[in-house]
Amino acid sequence: MCGIIGFTGTLDAKAVLTEGLAELEYRGYDSAGIAYVTKQGIKTIKTAGKVSCLKEKVESIKEQDQTTCGIGHTRWATHGGVSDINSHPHTAGRVTLIHNGIIENYQKLQAELEKKGKKPISQTDTEIAAMVIDDYYEGDPIKAIKNAVKCLQGAYAFLIMFQEFPGKIYCIRNGSPLVATYTEKGAIIASDMVALIKYSKDYFVLPEHHIATLTTDGIKITNLLDQPVEPKMLHVNWDMASARKGGYDYFMLKEIHEQPEALRRTITPRLKQGLPDFEEDNIGDDIFQGLNKIVITACGTAMHAGLIGRNLIEKLTRVPVTVEIASEFRYQDPIIDENTLVLVISQSGETADTLAALRLAKEKGAKTLSIVNVKGSSIARESDYVLYTHAGPEIAVASTKAYIVQLAALYLFAMRFAYVTNKITKEETKKMTEEFTCVISQVEKMISCDEQVEEIAACLVKTEDLFFIGRGLDYALSCEGSIKLKEVSYIHSEAYAAGELKHGTISLITDNVPVIAIATQKDVYVKTISNVKEVRSRGAKVILITRQDAVIDASLCDHIITIPKVDDIFAPFCAAVALQYIAYYAAVKRGLNVDQPRNLAKSVTVE
Ligand code: AGP
Repeated sequence: MCGIIGFTGTLDAKAVLTEGLAELEYRGYDSAGIAYVTKQGIKTIKTAGKVSCLKEKVESIKEQDQTTCGIGHTRWATHGGVSDINSHPHTAGRVTLIHNGIIENYQKLQAELEKKGKKPISQTDTEIAAMVIDDYYEGDPIKAIKNAVKCLQGAYAFLIMFQEFPGKIYCIRNGSPLVATYTEKGAIIASDMVALIKYSKDYFVLPEHHIATLTTDGIKITNLLDQPVEPKMLHVNWDMASARKGGYDYFMLKEIHEQPEALRRTITPRLKQGLPDFEEDNIGDDIFQGLNKIVITACGTAMHAGLIGRNLIEKLTRVPVTVEIASEFRYQDPIIDENTLVLVISQSGETADTLAALRLAKEKGAKTLSIVNVKGSSIARESDYVLYTHAGPEIAVASTKAYIVQLAALYLFAMRFAYVTNKITKEETKKMTEEFTCVISQVEKMISCDEQVEEIAACLVKTEDLFFIGRGLDYALSCEGSIKLKEVSYIHSEAYAAGELKHGTISLITDNVPVIAIATQKDVYVKTISNVKEVRSRGAKVILITRQDAVIDASLCDHIITIPKVDDIFAPFCAAVALQYIAYYAAVKRGLNVDQPRNLAKSVTVE
């Protein structure tokens, strides 16, 4: 998704902007640009390509304008192809702006502007937004913005500069994120904290439909009735080093290795006298009373975490749980009510489809609890309850540590729910909780199996298609293994319920087709192994992920990855690491940009 940053203060704005854009690269983009204030007016430098190309263009400008105010943007193309002219910032008359989001009614607005003889030069919805604001502008920036947003439909985070107001940056959002802070160096605003952490750990989230005016003296916030509003200050508990690679080749590898610590930070604060406890999260036990249904909704990897969570919640509480893809759920007429709890899972807390699903759930009267990694994010703020995960900033597009702490939050939730509703005794809960905390050291053991998995992944370098198979929790894990592999290595893969293979897909299993079989669950182990025999007899190359104490017929497999001895319900925490390593090393050996896969963004804030 687009990255945006704005600064006005005492520092060299071009340096602040280009450095900030470099920090935001992980969000995924295809072009970059900055606009800054000079004595001769607002200047813009923008280009298709990477931030490094933009930096070269900035440094090549002869007259090195001194400037202390500007805005910067990395564009993830939605409307209009990847080109210099479609890059942001866009200027229309006296207005220069950058935008994260989608203006859904831009064509109608464009037609109205063209009737006034005003034609855009790019193919973007963003330029139309700039033209609408300029069209309303009669000398009062805030009035022009207020009038313009009444016409705009869709998601936006705008940073806007006006020719006649040098040194000031006007900001407004609807859906897309904006966080800001003010220090003695000036006022700074961005899409997320990774670009601000260098300046301050204290920040606020700009409330939607409020206008922030940034000047060198501070940040003023007003609502659409021009009433002043005090920001709600928040504090991040991680530092710049957490947002940097720390000597790893890629953020993805660093974040795989950070999983044990992320688990500790997410689990430990929620254990009291050996029981899961959500008092610090302001989640009382009343949330569990009278529930007759739970709906988990999320996207991608977060949704796959939900598939795992459903298994344990149903197993322990016997309350029915469904897992709904958020982009589907938001357009269904879901059967939910005040006795339904909707669990919303999102690392970024900004995924548009997931946010829309949350809003629909609330409209239908359901209680909502979100499991979110980014403090103060939209989904967190709009949920009735929030269970924050503490993985720290996840920079790689491929989610790893955020996924595993989502599992942890779901497991704590399931155990607390079962205990509070007397489905398991206090002793049983304590025992399960104790075993759960021991899983962290087992995950640490898995982290050290990277060399073995790296060798196995080498055999996938020329693979174009492969299959993951498993049953129950192993099937849910297969779904996650498949998306990880696809998104970073570009190897096509499918996750299949092992028992379903022979109902069609096994026709695709021919000589040397790789099949990654996940068999960690004792109760279905024999059945999964018989599925392995079926694919083996048709020539498949088999990579088996199973338990250390499993009885394995080595003739069935080309490679075997074993996980440390844990109770079956905790196996996903260990097996996930193996799946992450397979994806990571396959991508590395195929020479790909693991952290920023093509076409992908870290947080999909548009639908
Ligand atoms: C995960 O590896 C992907 N990058 C993607 O599926 C991601 O999980 C999904 O877009 C949801 O993002 P969120 O957790 O920030 O809502």
